[in-house]
Amino acid sequence: MWRVKSLDAILATAEKKSLHRSLGPLQLTLLGIGAIIGTGIFVLTAAAAQKAGPGMMYSFVIAGAVCAVAALCYSELAAMAPVSGSAYTYTYAVMGELLAWCVGWALILEYAVAASAVSVGWSGYMLGQIENALGFDWPDLLQAGPVWSMNGWMPSPDFSAGLINVPAIIVAMAVTLLLMIGTTESARVNAVLVAIKVAALGAFVVLTLPIIDTANFSPFAPNGAFGPAGTSGMGIVGAAASIFFAYVGFDAVSTAAEETKNPQRNVPIGLIGSLAICTIFYLLVAAGAVGAIGAQPVLGADGSAVQPGSAAFTAACALAENSQALVCSNEALAHVLRVVGHEGVGNAVGTAAVLALPSVILMMIFGQTRIFFVMARDGLLPEAFSRVHPKWKTPHIVTLFTGMAVATAGALFPVGQLADISNSGTLFAFFMVSIAVLMLRVKDPTRRRPFKTPLVWIMAPLSAAGCAFLFWNLPHDAKMVLPIWGGIGLVIYLLYGIRKSHVGRGIVDVPELAADAPPGPVPPMPGAPSPTDPHDKL
Ligand code: ALA
Repeated sequence: MWRVKSLDAILATAEKKSLHRSLGPLQLTLLGIGAIIGTGIFVLTAAAAQKAGPGMMYSFVIAGAVCAVAALCYSELAAMAPVSGSAYTYTYAVMGELLAWCVGWALILEYAVAASAVSVGWSGYMLGQIENALGFDWPDLLQAGPVWSMNGWMPSPDFSAGLINVPAIIVAMAVTLLLMIGTTESARVNAVLVAIKVAALGAFVVLTLPIIDTANFSPFAPNGAFGPAGTSGMGIVGAAASIFFAYVGFDAVSTAAEETKNPQRNVPIGLIGSLAICTIFYLLVAAGAVGAIGAQPVLGADGSAVQPGSAAFTAACALAENSQALVCSNEALAHVLRVVGHEGVGNAVGTAAVLALPSVILMMIFGQTRIFFVMARDGLLPEAFSRVHPKWKTPHIVTLFTGMAVATAGALFPVGQLADISNSGTLFAFFMVSIAVLMLRVKDPTRRRPFKTPLVWIMAPLSAAGCAFLFWNLPHDAKMVLPIWGGIGLVIYLLYGIRKSHVGRGIVDVPELAADAPPGPVPPMPGAPSPTDPHDKL
């Protein structure tokens, strides 16, 4: 189980695939922005404000800084091994099969659960639009799932917020069907959706920054750095651990490495460029939201800070005095604009979110199917997961399976909990990438590194420590999910993958024998021009 798949074998597997290398630095950066801007900034800004108050601005800085150092580590590995599978593949090359399996397993939390979170975020904006435009009040029971807490080792639901989130199911299944029949976004559609999102955030910044009232920044950190005693995941650091979700997705750029022209140069540009642009927007949006209408948390009946999404929080938000509070809104950015009198622009921002968030869901479900696909190609998951539909040319089985899981989680969990669970898996994967980059420097110091992480012996440990720190500051229940999920994954590996592994059975590609090996092609990335469709170009 410590066997590694050598970097040369990984590159040889990638070499013989027919994928067209067509993405340049601009498309990659747009792809990254397309995957990054989503529910995090449009919806979870409210949850971050509930945890940290105006101090959430620091939370955005902390989470962005951890992602920045992680992106530098990703860039070195992605430029060295521009192949599918990102963190899973790098770990396979450096730390061996068992840990690679664990990372692949954790990436399910990152991609599939993130897709569920974005579906629930979309649901909030969609219902807001329906109510504003049509005056239709969607039944409460069908607009949100229950809130879960751990009762010992048993999860227990609280149905005060709702029973099932029907719009989240609808959007997740609609995106799944699109992916199954092969309607991957063209690069042009991706560029348009990125433009819509950037325009919405730009309008928000332009309308809110001039009306900033400095009084809204005080008290700046009502819940302190770590939240009141006895709470978990609160305060500025707790908010950073949650709002980390807003930055997730830049690593999607590294999963497109196999379809990139001159990947050694362009992948680092795409990774770091998309992250830098989004960070600047996020800081401006956070400042605008706080400065325009304030961002003080609502308090529970006993006067203490309450967890966003909890039953006590729902009760506090139901009070008339909190009806305008940023923290209580399901459509944070649209809400701020409406409160300051820009009703029309607020509605337009809502429409932009409704239009553009499904592309984030699509990227996440696609990323998930790709990870499953590569794991199946390595023999660690059943062959059926890499089966391609004869007419649609898509891995329909794994896509349907993933979509149904995403819809189920979206139906039954609130957005904040899903985002926190997704963060736990992502932080684990980023942590492993940070370690892998150092291990490879020691194990294989002479290999050509087209992009070298600057000051790697400072940056990589900082990245690993930052990921561990944020993980530690997630709410208790979200932290528990990773070891439980990991345990389930370990059992599956020991029952299945350890025996079926291609590396274990000696089925490994080597450069000279490239034609002998069996793996099927990986379907193209959404946003990537399809090799079979000459019109699908930016
Ligand atoms: N960063 C993505 C979002 O916020 C996952 O929706």
